[in-house]
Amino acid sequence: MEKIIEQTEEFVKAELGEDATGHDYYHVDRVRKLALYIAMEERKGDLFTIEMAALLHDIPDEKLNQSIEDGYFKLHSFLETLPLTQIQKQRIVDIISKISYKGGNEAELTTFEEKVVRDADRIDAMGAIGIARAFSYGGKNGQLIFDPNIKIRTNITNKQYRNEKSTSIHHFYEKLLVLKERMHTSTAKRIAEERHQWLEMYLEQFFKEWNGDQ
Ligand code: ADP
Ligand code: NI
Repeated sequence: MEKIIEQTEEFVKAELGEDATGHDYYHVDRVRKLALYIAMEERKGDLFTIEMAALLHDIPDEKLNQSIEDGYFKLHSFLETLPLTQIQKQRIVDIISKISYKGGNEAELTTFEEKVVRDADRIDAMGAIGIARAFSYGGKNGQLIFDPNIKIRTNITNKQYRNEKSTSIHHFYEKLLVLKERMHTSTAKRIAEERHQWLEMYLEQFFKEWNGDQ
């Protein structure tokens, strides 16, 4: 099992190492550690499956592939090289397809393993790291840090979200501040609570400086 994890790390490093959209290998490594931590605190779940799914969760992301199909082809091709049973491979792919689902509504999560990896991925979009990732994403995509002329929208579908103009500060209101309500495990809720406070503190200071208050 250890050898398989190592091989997977190498594969993911080679695939994501240079990416600057916030999906770099260090993001993946943080998600893996968070997911394992949550599962151990909750004393539940298949740790091997969780670790593999966390490591591979961004491989089929549409931002990194020509198409989603290409991404899944890459994932399947890699899994074929590992000495795992068909069932083990399917469990890993199922978690990844559930958590990276970007349709209009969220995919319903059923297993504990899916919930843990999803929670971990979302926690990494919060707190100090989440703030850095939002501005890094915004910079890469030519977004302003903030524009008071753009209306802040809440409760929008992912499709609308991707197609309309936004800024990184808007992203806090439209996505990041609601994440703490979307956690599935109690351990993730606890971690998200603290990271949420960092988002709030950051915004308070941001607007103080934006408005020129001393
Ligand atoms: P995930 O790893 O959860 O699938 P995404 O692909 O949705 O994440 O986004 C990667 C990172 O970029 C996250 O930290 C997210 O908060 C940030 N991000 C996504 N969309 C925007 C946006 N419109 N503005 C600023 N940051 C964004
Ligand atoms: Ni991710």
